[in-house]
Amino acid sequence: MSQLAADVSADLPKLSETLTEVTGAHFDEFIAAARRLITSAQSLQELQQQRVSLTGKKSALTGWSKQLGRLDADDKKAFGAKLHEVRSSIQEALTAQQQALEAAALQAKLDSERIDITLPPRGNEKGRLHPITMTTQRMQQFFVQAGFNVATGPEVEHDYYNFEALNIPSHHPARAMHDTFYFDAHYLLRTHTSPVQIRTMEAGKPPIRIICPGRVYRCDSDQTHSPMFHQLEGLMVTKSSTFAELKGLINEFLEAFFAKSLTVRFRPSFFPFTEPSAEVDILADNGKWLEVMGCGMVHPQVLKNCGIDPEEFTGFAFGMGIERFAMLYYGIDDLRLFFQNDVRFLKQFG
Ligand code: FA5
Ligand code: MG
Repeated sequence: MSQLAADVSADLPKLSETLTEVTGAHFDEFIAAARRLITSAQSLQELQQQRVSLTGKKSALTGWSKQLGRLDADDKKAFGAKLHEVRSSIQEALTAQQQALEAAALQAKLDSERIDITLPPRGNEKGRLHPITMTTQRMQQFFVQAGFNVATGPEVEHDYYNFEALNIPSHHPARAMHDTFYFDAHYLLRTHTSPVQIRTMEAGKPPIRIICPGRVYRCDSDQTHSPMFHQLEGLMVTKSSTFAELKGLINEFLEAFFAKSLTVRFRPSFFPFTEPSAEVDILADNGKWLEVMGCGMVHPQVLKNCGIDPEEFTGFAFGMGIERFAMLYYGIDDLRLFFQNDVRFLKQFG
């Protein structure tokens, strides 16, 4: 017998185990004590133990019931009725207590899950896109409407794609201009999006019209340089692409992007993978020229490196600094602000 069942028996009045010695008053006393016990049960588990000790196989009640068969007809009837009354009283009390305990458990659960609708709301401020993302999307939109497809390439790049195939052999001084982050002798973080030109020309045949926006990395940091920044590469290869066409496209893009007249200059420059090459500067509000992109006609050697015949096809390419466009568009004079993730700064956009 469990400890609790023993306690239950201990609390019951000690009545004779011999049925015929128990009187009606004894039975009433027994019922009253059993009821007190039952209503004192604090949990369903405790109640179940009481059910066993009050009505189970080893209970006094069951012991008495077993003796009924040995009684004569009159006693059998009288005691039978009495035992029936005892049993149903106990059953009734058990059921009532079970319902009470279940209701209390439900109420406790409801109380613990109560929602206080009078509390002030948490606020449903929506997030917003980062200004660099919005700038990229606006730049991309122009070129997609002009018929360019969006290409992608890996940020961890092989030096063949980042340099070699772009006509920048390992001894070339232009490699130094890129301040490259190397992983080992061959793998590096791409320093520009131009390797995607190579991957695109290797994979498909002209005519080609792609742009590739993406992250690039250089060991470089000041007001207009960040070690991670974004470029948007463009490449067009056809049988008749010209520098005039490139210039026209860039001018049209700048006008569409800024939706205002700007002072723009194409400045002759050098890239090993374009010939001729130019850089494009825009006059910022602070009176300084800001370089926004490099561009030029794809070098014949680069076309050859990709299996394209330079006698048959010509191409132009450009690589825009996305942060620089965002700086000019939003009037920000320090590019590092874009990456400090100060919400007071970021909240001002969009
Ligand atoms: C290049 O990266 C060439 N791949 C561009 C190119 C593509 C030329 C296709 C010809 C044909 P450059 O290193 O100048 O070029 O970088 C291009 C643009 O990226 C710059 O004009 C500038 O706007 C931006 N840029 C360069 N370095 C940084 C930097 N550290 N932080 C932010 N923007 C930068
Ligand atoms: Mg440059």
